[in-house]
Amino acid sequence: MTRIALHINGAPHEVEADPATPLLYVLRNQLGLTGAKLGCALEQCGACAVLVDGAARPTCVAPVGQFEGAQIETVEGLGDAGRPGPVQRAFIDEAAAQCGYCTPGLVVAVEALRRREPPPDEAAGRAALKGHLCRCGTHAAVLRAVARVLRERAA
Ligand code: FES
Ligand code: FES
Repeated sequence: MTRIALHINGAPHEVEADPATPLLYVLRNQLGLTGAKLGCALEQCGACAVLVDGAARPTCVAPVGQFEGAQIETVEGLGDAGRPGPVQRAFIDEAAAQCGYCTPGLVVAVEALRRREPPPDEAAGRAALKGHLCRCGTHAAVLRAVARVLRERAA
């Protein structure tokens, strides 16, 4: 076990962990940040994505030791039920979740898009979400949410 310093949702955290442990397990099991989900465990579905220095990254394989010094943002850092962030608001308004299992990963991916400079067009938005699978078939609603977020950003 090693003491590992992480910066998550604007606050410093220290955990005792094997540096080879995937970041997702540390987030969920040691820090109680259960928004990111374990889906495939193969970096193939996007359910476990968080923002790392502003980019959406899967966390189910990448070892926690790689993330020292990085700015990590989980879906919990982007708003909550009482004060949803702009992407969460758009997902609510477009009913872009069914079971919700894939939704945290999608929300952080769309947040990365929302911050992108220059703003992405629709095609770039679709491409950025390619690695996010949804077994409930919310894709059309998610794309409406993306369009809404990009429209609001442009306004
Ligand atoms: S659980 Fe990480 S990409 Fe599927
Ligand atoms: S909303 Fe159920 S997996 Fe996407």
